Amino acid sequence: MDGITMIETRRSIRRYVKKQIPDEIVKKIINCARLAPTANNLQPWLFVVIKDTKLKQQISDIADHGKFIKDADCCIAVFCEDTKYYLEDGSAATQNILLAAWYFGIGSCWVAGDKKPYAEKVREVLGVKDKYKLVSLISLGYPDEEELKKIQNIKKKSVEEVLIIK
Ligand SMILES: Cc1cc2nc3c(=O)[nH]c(=O)nc-3n(C[C@H](O)[C@H](O)[C@H](O)COP(=O)(O)O)c2cc1C
Repeated sequence: MDGITMIETRRSIRRYVKKQIPDEIVKKIINCARLAPTANNLQPWLFVVIKDTKLKQQISDIADHGKFIKDADCCIAVFCEDTKYYLEDGSAATQNILLAAWYFGIGSCWVAGDKKPYAEKVREVLGVKDKYKLVSLISLGYPDEEELKKIQNIKKKSVEEVLIIK
């Protein structure tokens, strides 16, 4: 898949089939995450891959709009140290994860982390040091067929609606 097609076709996937993502693919996805741009090249992040069933359930219970995390093959929690641009940096890495996953035919969904009252709880459950802030949770899994049909109907604003050329 070329880069433009990858960006144009990616949509959030919240329903998955029961199929394991090979560890080497997860590692490649994380490799893409750590190559994202960061302010002053600080790379303030930490990525936690959650594969354990009980931990996934715990995260699902905590994240109010991420109940589907328990059904995903794994979940990546993106943390950043509390730097000036931690949110931009962590968001850039998050987007790289979504796109890299899609490249490998893996569906994903960005679940809110930063600003959520549960961010600290997630950090504690995962045993991550308190110098880190949760930016996002990303569910990952091979897409359910019905979900792939459903995403065709997701409405996006047209280029004309969002573009001004001066
Ligand atoms: C900062 C942010 C937080 C989000 N949080 C959630 C969430 O908690 N639960 C969820 O199901 N989707 C969440 N999403 C996914 C959006 O709902 C989704 O990206 C949007 O509806 C557009 O659909 P698309 O990803 O298929 O283009 C989040 C997306 C972003 C960028």
